[in-house]
Amino acid sequence: MDKILIHGQRPLAGAVKISGSKNSALPILAATLLTSDPCVVQRVPDLSDVHYMLQILTHLGADVERASGIVTVKAEKVNSVAPYEIVRKMRASICVLGPLLGREKEATVSLPGGCVIGDRPIDLHLRGFEALGAAVRVHGGNVKVLAPSLRGAKVSLRGKFGTTVLGTGNILMAAVLAEGVTIIEDAACEPEVVDLASFLNKMGAKIEGAGTSRIVIEGVKELHGAEHEVIPDRIEAGTFLVAGAIAGREVTLNRVRSDHLTAVTDTLRTCGYHIAEDNCSLTIYPNGGPRSLDIKTQPYPGFPTDMQAQMCALLATANGESSVTESIFPQRFMHVSELKRMGAAIELDGATARIHGVENLSGAPVMASDLRASAALVLAGLLADGTTEINRVYHIDRGYEMLDEKLGSLGAQIERVKV
Ligand code: EPZ
Repeated sequence: MDKILIHGQRPLAGAVKISGSKNSALPILAATLLTSDPCVVQRVPDLSDVHYMLQILTHLGADVERASGIVTVKAEKVNSVAPYEIVRKMRASICVLGPLLGREKEATVSLPGGCVIGDRPIDLHLRGFEALGAAVRVHGGNVKVLAPSLRGAKVSLRGKFGTTVLGTGNILMAAVLAEGVTIIEDAACEPEVVDLASFLNKMGAKIEGAGTSRIVIEGVKELHGAEHEVIPDRIEAGTFLVAGAIAGREVTLNRVRSDHLTAVTDTLRTCGYHIAEDNCSLTIYPNGGPRSLDIKTQPYPGFPTDMQAQMCALLATANGESSVTESIFPQRFMHVSELKRMGAAIELDGATARIHGVENLSGAPVMASDLRASAALVLAGLLADGTTEINRVYHIDRGYEMLDEKLGSLGAQIERVKV
């Protein structure tokens, strides 16, 4: 198991290329199950989560080839059972349910287990499948969906914490082969949902309204193969912007969609940073320490929950008191105790972290607990006085392609060591 050592307080400068989006690639790879034709997906990031998805596709009977960011999938025949051994490694495996139900009219997938970022039910996914006419049975740790045929229907995906991103994708992938018209209301508007819909439309689907809260899908008889390039990863980009804010001289991100990052760039500007942008690059310039502020995570286009931990790391040395309220995953604060080990002054008050800015952080051994919490610890390590040792970095490899190499190319003193 690797760990990462960061010798802090080294200025970052230069340019870095942003990889393809994990949260877009995963449902798009699952969607290739909807046709027996070959599909080619480009700019697929080299991540362990992608590896798990390709394992699931292979287990379901698809031929999978992969060469430097290009994945070709040919699912000539598929079986419709995704077992616990593979599904337990990655919650996003749940998004094979929709395409399998759409194509095979049945699917059995192991229920995803617990998650450190909080309770993550799939009731909204199941509500959507039932609306399309599927019978849903949860038994023995598996969810089985079955439908002699699927009929278009109207379904709202509004839940206790708002809508669902993967749930919207799952219903989309089941509805594209249903008879008649499906209307998804309270749909997620994330760029990853738009990217999935654009891939499905290239396969011959008839989807309108992706990116808005009302999506209309006219079912078709069958889909064909397609080629698609995944959008840039807006959360990886946001993480590098915060790295530039924390330790940057002038950091440029290339191959990025700046329009997907408006909530993040607006927040960093309010924090006092200058950000120059054009449609495929962003440059952040230092401006002394961050100004304190209040943030509340929201579904897209609001401030993303997947950037919440990284902002806690930045605001730890802000001038004054900040508050960060988590409205999507109220318990998503595993990073707080580790940041406090580095000298941050943070109090948790329900779903709000109250951050009293301190002069500086000090390097320490810390434990990564989940993907974005581990990114926050890396960012804090860049700022901290001394050496930070991050353990369980496999969490980072789930969602960041070559994070330590990319930071090293910007001047960070960072190394990965095998233990
Ligand atoms: C996606 O997860 C992302 N994962 C998450 O990113 C991201 O945090 C999340 O969307 C929110 O933006 C992928 O795309 C692979 P949700 P998803 O269903 O779709 C509740 C990362 O760091 N809910 O939109 O699983 C749920 O508990 C990961 O890259 C229900 O109540 O999240 C949560 O409170 C972490 N019932 C809220 O909705 C349901 O059926 C939003 O969850 C589904 C969800």
